[in-house]
Amino acid sequence: MSGDYTFLLFICITHFFTINGEIIPRETLEIIIGGGGGSPPSPPPEYQNCPPPPPPPCSPPISPPPCSPPISPPPPPPPPPPPPPRPSPSPPPPRPPPPPPPRPPPPPPPPPPRPPPPPRQPPRPSPSSGGFESVLLAKTYKVIQDFNRTVTSDPKGITKTWVGKDICNDYKGFFCAIVPNSKKKNVAGVNFNNFNIAGTITDFLAGLNDIAFFHANSNGLTGTIPDKITNHPYLYELDLSNNKFSGTFPTAVLRAKKLVFLDLRFNTFSGQVPPQVFQLDVDLLFINNNNFKQTLPATIGFTPALYLTLANNRFIGEIPRTIGHASDTLLEVLFLNNQLTGCLPYEIGFLRKATVFDVGGNSLTGPIPYSFQCLQKMELLNLANNKFSNVVPDAVCSLPNLSNFTLSYNYFTGVGPLCRKLIKSGVLHIKMNCILDLPDQRSPADCRKFYTTSRRCPNEKSLTYIPCGKGYTLESSDIQSTAPAPAPVTASRGQTYGALAPN
Ligand SMILES: *[C@@H]1O[C@H](CO)[C@@H](O)[C@H](O)[C@H]1NC(C)=O
Ligand SMILES: *[C@@H]1O[C@H](CO)[C@@H](O)[C@H](O)[C@H]1NC(C)=O
Ligand SMILES: *[C@@H]1O[C@H](CO)[C@@H](O)[C@H](O)[C@H]1NC(C)=O
Repeated sequence: MSGDYTFLLFICITHFFTINGEIIPRETLEIIIGGGGGSPPSPPPEYQNCPPPPPPPCSPPISPPPCSPPISPPPPPPPPPPPPPRPSPSPPPPRPPPPPPPRPPPPPPPPPPRPPPPPRQPPRPSPSSGGFESVLLAKTYKVIQDFNRTVTSDPKGITKTWVGKDICNDYKGFFCAIVPNSKKKNVAGVNFNNFNIAGTITDFLAGLNDIAFFHANSNGLTGTIPDKITNHPYLYELDLSNNKFSGTFPTAVLRAKKLVFLDLRFNTFSGQVPPQVFQLDVDLLFINNNNFKQTLPATIGFTPALYLTLANNRFIGEIPRTIGHASDTLLEVLFLNNQLTGCLPYEIGFLRKATVFDVGGNSLTGPIPYSFQCLQKMELLNLANNKFSNVVPDAVCSLPNLSNFTLSYNYFTGVGPLCRKLIKSGVLHIKMNCILDLPDQRSPADCRKFYTTSRRCPNEKSLTYIPCGKGYTLESSDIQSTAPAPAPVTASRGQTYGALAPN
């Protein structure tokens, strides 16, 4: 698995990754959940110090390698140079199974290992580097050794490979590259997915200055996330999922401005998620399966994330109306199994790109807003196990791509002809409601009891707005959609459900 790679394609990370010489806009990135089974790390992001977004194109690393000044909109990236002999650390992410099943199992299996990289000319060790390939690697050796001392369990014998001076080729879990600024080699990425190593990560993470990714799904790692990661100039991907991290939210990540991928799911973080988390410029934010307890901050609508999972925590209160602000970006959002209450805000209907919306297993009330008929891309819509009521707006059942619309275990009182069609075709699941002419419904007594309490939604009129309808004029508080359409999204639907498994 170890190896090194030289980045020959220099494209700004902020919007482009390179996969086998292909330039992939951020929007089309497939997500790798957990990277289970020792799957490869995501493509190593461009390893150059680009300015923050909006992403200017970077010039190639001919000396000096500054990025060209920001221009907007970004012109097409430069044509890729002849493809380098691409060594192993960054095979393309596994392609999702086409077409995805409505609830895909945890992440696709990793591709078979690639052949070893072609032999490279051994770099000359510099006299000052004590036999290491570079002075940077000599320093990193010490950092690895110190981490090694904290390891209390290593059932797979990974640390046995951490011997000698050839970190780049011999050490499992480490990947090297030339650091752009210094033109010296150093560890540029860590992939410990499924190593099951127990150890303390704080100083380790602090000491790996030049890493672009740190993937450590399914280990027994503890410790705190050091403030020093704030100064890591290339840290784009941080995956600490399914470990033993606890305590409050690791606020150091809030200042790690380069992050595009933050996965903290399946730990025991507790307390509050700082509102600023949703202002991080990430594509993917997974914080499900922790013990976060709080009302959702209004900033949630301002997340640029395409994939957002908050499932299986103890979030309370309402879904903020700001959610509609994510209309240009949000593809999949999982709120399921929290303690959310209140009515669904009609602004959810602005999420015109969303393919997955799941609020199952909460205590939400009120009707389905008419605006849901504007969710043109919706495929998996789950409102099961709440306290929703009223008649299901029939137009929602005409959404073209719905493949699983689940309303079971609520208090809906009626469905129209379009919805009845979907029941027949097995798309709409609506058992245990109050639709008395359908099978498997609640008892009339249960339903009567539920409806003796009157529940009102704030701003009830808004629940009949159809923001995509003809003749509808946006209120000043509505969302303006002025952003240019980003590249077509090819990521497959239902990917985030994989995040609900630990690895
Ligand atoms: C790491 O620990 C293992 C086993 O505890 C040992 O064999 C190895 O030499 C250590 N490596 C380094 C670089 O300290
Ligand atoms: C529905 O899905 C198909 C196939 O995935 C896609 O081509 C089409 O654009 C989708 N329709 C909408 C309205 O998103
Ligand atoms: C549809 O979605 C519900 C809720 O997420 C899930 O429980 C069910 O298994 C799905 N049904 C199918 C046929 O995929």
